[in-house]
Formats: sequence, C-alpha cells, structure tokens
Amino acid sequence: MDEISAKTAGKTGTTPKGGDGDKNYVTLVDHTSGKQYDFPVLTGTHGPKVIDIQQLYRRTGYFTFDPGFMSTANCESDITFIDGEKGVLMHRGYPIEELATQSHFLEVCYLLLHDDLPNQKELQNFEHSIKMHTMLNEQLLKFYRGFREDAHPMAIMVGVVGALSAFFHDSMDIWDPHHRLVATHRVIAKMPTMAAYAYKYSIGQPFIYPRNDLDYASNFLNMMFAVPAEPYYVSPVLARAMDRILILHADHEQNASTATVRIAGSSAANPFACIAAGIASLWGPAHGGANEAVLNMLEHIGSVDRIPEFIARAKDKDDPFRLMGFGHRVYKNYDPRAAVLRQSAHDVLDELGIREDPLFKLAMELERIALEDEYFVDRKLFPNVDFYSGVILRAMGFPKSMFTVLFALGRSVGWISQWVEMIQSPDHRISRPRQLYTGHARRHYVPLEERD
Ligand code: CMC
Repeated sequence: MDEISAKTAGKTGTTPKGGDGDKNYVTLVDHTSGKQYDFPVLTGTHGPKVIDIQQLYRRTGYFTFDPGFMSTANCESDITFIDGEKGVLMHRGYPIEELATQSHFLEVCYLLLHDDLPNQKELQNFEHSIKMHTMLNEQLLKFYRGFREDAHPMAIMVGVVGALSAFFHDSMDIWDPHHRLVATHRVIAKMPTMAAYAYKYSIGQPFIYPRNDLDYASNFLNMMFAVPAEPYYVSPVLARAMDRILILHADHEQNASTATVRIAGSSAANPFACIAAGIASLWGPAHGGANEAVLNMLEHIGSVDRIPEFIARAKDKDDPFRLMGFGHRVYKNYDPRAAVLRQSAHDVLDELGIREDPLFKLAMELERIALEDEYFVDRKLFPNVDFYSGVILRAMGFPKSMFTVLFALGRSVGWISQWVEMIQSPDHRISRPRQLYTGHARRHYVPLEERD
C-alpha cells in the first residue's frame, strides 16, 4: 500500500456465531498522517476471515475500492458455504452431493428457508402449502398475451414475476414474519407455473394448469409438455433428473443475481419485484445465461476435430470468445454441481435411449482437452454447473431458450431465502456502495451561445 499499510495483531475482536473463537484485529497504518487504526477481524464457521471495515470511512476518511466484489463480503449469511479451492458446496452445512442424491427439491427448499431438514409432519405441511399456491391469478395470464410470441422466455419471466408484485403488494407487509413466509411459499409454488407458461405461450399451445397429485418436478414437466388433447406420461427418471437439476441450482451464496435480490430488497422493496431483478441479473451469459451459451457453442463447434480451433480462440486475448461453461469466480477446482450433472447426463441419455448423443460426446471431449491444456490448468478453469446442464435439458426436450429459465426456477428458493435472511438481519440497512469519482472537477455552466 502506498499511504496506508495493514498488519494483523493478536488483540480481541468480535466473532459472529459459529466462529472458532480465533479473534484479532487488523491495524491500518496511514503513513500520511502517521495514525494507526485497529479494525476487528471476524471469523465465520468456515472460509477466510473478514476485516470489519464498516467504521473505516467514519474513522479514517477513506473508502475501499473493490469493483466486482473481488474481496468484499456483502453480508453475513448462514445459508450456503462454498470452498472454491476444494470444490465444496454446502447448504446449511449439508454437502451438495448428499442433497442431490438423497434429498428432493422441496425438502432442500425447506432446508434453505428454515435452517434444518424438516421432520415428516413439517415436510407434509410445507408440501401442502406449496401445492395450495401453484395456480396463477387468471388476470396474470393476460400479461403473457401482451408479449410477442418470439419473446425470449427470460424476458417474459422478468415481466410476469415482477407483475406478481401488483397482485400481492397490498397484502404484503415485509416486516410481518407470516407475510414473509407466505411470500416465500408463493415464489416456490408459482415459479414452475410461470416458467411453463412462458414456454407454452412461445409455441402457441394452451396453458396446462398445475396438478396437485404430482410431485413438484413431475408437475412442472407436465405443465411444460402435456397438451389437453391426450394423456401425458411423466417419466420418473426424467422427473428425478429435473428435481436434481433444481437442487443443484437452488442456492450459491452471494452470486450476481442473489446480490441483486439483496440490494433491491435492502430498500424494503416488494419481494416479487426483487426476484424479478434477480431474474434480470441471471439472464446474462456470464451468469445463468451460460447454459444456453454452452449449447450454442457446442452446436457451433459441431465436431471433435474442430475443438483445437475453439480452444485456441478461447486463449487468444484479441478474440472475445470464451469457453462457455468453463471458469468461475469462486471455484478454482471442479464445480461439484458439474460432477453430479455429468453423471445425471448418462442416466437421462440412457433413459431416452440416446447413449451416443453427439453433443454429449463433444462436451466430454472438449472437457478432456481443456483440462489438459496449460492455459486452463494455470488459470484453474474447470467446467461449471452450466457445462452439462444444457446437454441434459436438450435431451429432455427443453428448447435452449428455456435453459436459463430453469436455472431461475431452481434459484428462486435461494433468492427468497437470502431475501428473508437480509430482512430479518439486525444489521439490515439499505445497500449503498461508494465510488471513486474520476470525472470532471467542479466547473461552471456555460450558456449555449458561448460554447465552441
Ligand atoms: N474461457 C477462456 N478464458 C477464460 C474463461 C473462459 N471461459 N474464464 C476465465 N478465463 C480467463 C480470463 O481471460 C482471465 O485470463 P487472464 O488472467 O489471462 O486475463 C482469467 O481466466 C480469469 O478470468 P476472469 O474473467 O478474471 O474471472 P472472473 O472471476 O471475473 O469470471 C466467469 C468468472 C464465470 C465470468 C468467467 O470464467 C467466464 O466468463 N466463464 C464463461 C461463462 C460461464 O460459464 N459462466 C457461468 C458461471 S457458473 C454459473 C453461475 O453461477 O452463474
């Protein structure tokens, strides 16, 4: 550091719940004034320690500069933990691999919302409540009809999920715990219906109403693929694969869309509007839009012999092309979600009798070549969750444009759980980042006739 330097010292600081009791301060030394400032170091259950700089500006007159939140913890959270170096993801302490293989999506929803796995009665009540909220107000269907048929389903989702705020705003007091609970159930229950309707509208088919005799994933597949003219059989293998995809997308701590939901909600905005903001953020190809981009990329590559050409392009700094589905801000190891999905891809392709799917073979070969390439090895670029999800979803009959919608469907429970945690937090205050201003210095207005 130029003017200010930092060192840690073994003094006593504050430690949040679950901390290991290892307490200390960091001392900042301002070499301009010669002053020293101690800032507490907080210790979580797992993960790097955190310097608490909330009082930094008040005490020193300095801001910190961290575009993209490279080193900044935006909040304290009990929900999800990622160790990117080791490729670990846990929800409420449970490893994602155990949840993906032994639990089911609604149980994971309960876990994210309530901190613990439910007992039988709690699960029954929760599932019942979700089923009671799956239908949409018929007025909401008119919103779909306002979109062009070729509208991207993510654009439709931003609109219709945001429109929910118009339906429930008056009955929604975000400071009332019961109102918040009902809002969380509404989000979880209505997202599959809204997602399926975005698809049905785009292909000109009638909306299929939710069925309460089906489980969450089967009901979603039914609303997606059934037509009123004939019975539709939901394959249990595909329903299980769908459920697993939803679990794997359920939460991922402070990613761009979740941070967006928290920031939007920090002003005490309507939660459905906040979820719509999260959907907008998710849409980008650097985030949830990557699953659609992966499939576009695989189709574009076309055959195994063209892989080296695209690897070379990904490495070329003058070429904007990136290997989609590779790399992650936090994971510097194999994304544990990608490992589960790789296995799921085999199950789904077997069930559908397409063991020799050329795109899956291409994806596996691309992964093999990239993982041996020095560029990707040096930068610790591994396949992420989006790398295999598109191959599975395509085999299941989902069009590419729906891939990110499915990500949003799974992630909505994470968004609403994080929103609840934020609202309930005693530290809750409006998010208001600072900036390093580099524009014009103060100057005077020049009347138009006097300008050059
Ligand atoms: N292909 C080629 N090079 C890459 C890639 C890639 N997919 N990802 C990162 N790099 C390079 C990057 O050029 C940079 O190289 P250098 O150090 O020589 O300048 C280095 O690796 C670090 O990349 P970065 O952009 O500084 O890393 P980031 O943390 O800002 O970005 C990322 C993370 C996910 C946006 C990026 O890896 C990426 O664009 N990946 C492709 C899109 C993708 O798959 N996104 C889905 C993320 S997982 C789902 C989700 O949670 O949303």
